[in-house]
Amino acid sequence: MILVTGAAGFIGANFVLDWLAQSDEPVINLDKLTYAGNLQSLSSLDGDARHVFVHGDIGDRALVDRLLAEHRPRAVVNFAAESHVDRSIHGPEDFIQTNVVGTFHLLESVRAHWGTLEGEARAAFRFLHVSTDEVYGTLKPTDPPFTENHPYEPNSPYSASKAASDHLVRAYHHTYGLPVLTTNCSNNYGPYHFPEKLIPLMIVNALAGKPLPVYGDGMQVRDWLFVKDHCSAIRRVLEAGTPGETYNVGGWNEKPNIEIVNTVCALLDEMSPRADGQGYATQITYVKDRPGHDRRYAIDATKIHRELGWKPAETFETGIRKTVRWYLDNQAWVQQVQSGEYRQWVDKQYGAKA
Ligand code: NAD
Ligand code: TYD
Repeated sequence: MILVTGAAGFIGANFVLDWLAQSDEPVINLDKLTYAGNLQSLSSLDGDARHVFVHGDIGDRALVDRLLAEHRPRAVVNFAAESHVDRSIHGPEDFIQTNVVGTFHLLESVRAHWGTLEGEARAAFRFLHVSTDEVYGTLKPTDPPFTENHPYEPNSPYSASKAASDHLVRAYHHTYGLPVLTTNCSNNYGPYHFPEKLIPLMIVNALAGKPLPVYGDGMQVRDWLFVKDHCSAIRRVLEAGTPGETYNVGGWNEKPNIEIVNTVCALLDEMSPRADGQGYATQITYVKDRPGHDRRYAIDATKIHRELGWKPAETFETGIRKTVRWYLDNQAWVQQVQSGEYRQWVDKQYGAKA
C-alpha cells in the first residue's frame, strides 16, 4: 500500500480517485482536514476498504511513526500543505508550520521507517514530494521556461515555504540516502478545486452573480495543467523516476489571467447563460494587485517527457470545458465547501460586499 498525505485536498483527492480507479493497491490518506480538506470529495469511496482515512497532522511524529509501522507502505506521497498564496500573505505562520516544520517531521518519520526496511523493500521504497513551479520565482516575458536547473528564487511566503521543504527533501537524499523524488508542477485546475483559487472562484462567483475580481492588469501569466494530468505525472515519477531527481510538470500552456477568465465566461455563456441575456464577462472587475505578484510562470516539461515518456492527455480547451461542466453538475459540492470559514476568507480578501 501507499501513504498519501493531504489527500482530502484538491490534487490529493483527484490522485486517490484516479489511483483506485486503476489499481487495487490500498491508500492510507493522512489529512488534517484544514479548511481546504474535504472528505466529500472522496465520498464515492465510502465503504471501499482500499481507502483508509486517518485524521491527523504530518508533523505528528507519534502518529506517523505508528502508521508507517502498522501499514508498512512501499511509498509516501506528500501533498499535505498550505497552498494558497493570498492566505500566505495574510498569515504566513501556518505555511511555515505545515510546509516546512511538518515536512521536516514527516521526513524524520520516513527516514526512521526506511531504516527498518531490508532487501527489496528498502530498495523499492520511495518518498515523493509534490511541489510547485512557484519556487523558481518569476520570469520576464521573453525568458525561457523553468527547467529543473533554474535557481530557486521564491517570492511569496507560500513559495518560500515550499522551497524550504524541497531543500529539506533534497538534503535527506544527499545526507541519508533516502530515496526521494520531487515534482515541481505548474498551476492545476479541474474538479474538486477549492473556490478560493482563480478558476473555481470565477466559475462560482459568475454563477452567483458576483464580481469576478481580476488582480492588477490581469496580464500575469500562468502555465495551466488539468489536475488528472498532474496525477498521471506523479504516478509515472513514482513508478520510474530516479531517486534524488526532480521533475518539472507542466502543460505547455501559458495564458494571461484575463484570457482564462474570459474563457470561463464564454463557456458559462454557452452552458448556463444568464437569465438577462448579458454575458458573464460583464461581471469582471479589476481589483488591487496582489503584493509581490509574480508576473509569469512557465514550465519546461522536456525532462519528464524525454526520460519517463509522460505528456498531458488534455489540452486547455478540453480540460477547461470538463472543469466548467463539473462545477455546473456539482453545485452541492460547492455549497458544502462554502462554510463559515470560507465566507470569512472572502470577506477578508475581497471585502464584505463580495
Ligand atoms: P489544497 O490546499 O487543496 O489541499 C491541501 C490538503 O492538505 C488539505 O486536504 C489539507 O487539509 C491538508 N493539510 C494541510 N496541512 C496539513 C497537515 N499539517 N497535515 C496533514 N494534512 C494537511 O492543496 P492542493 O492544491 O491540492 O495542493 C496539493 C500539493 O500540491 C501542495 O503541496 C501544493 O503545494 C502542490 N501544488 C499545487 C498546485 C496547484 O495548482 N494547486 C500546483 C503545484 C503544486
Ligand atoms: P491562484 O489560483 O491563487 O494561483 P497562484 O497564485 O498559485 O498562481 O491565482 C492564479 C492567478 O490568478 C494569479 O496570477 C493570481 C490571479 N488571481 C486573480 O486575478 N484574482 C483572484 O481572485 C485570484 C484568487 C487569483
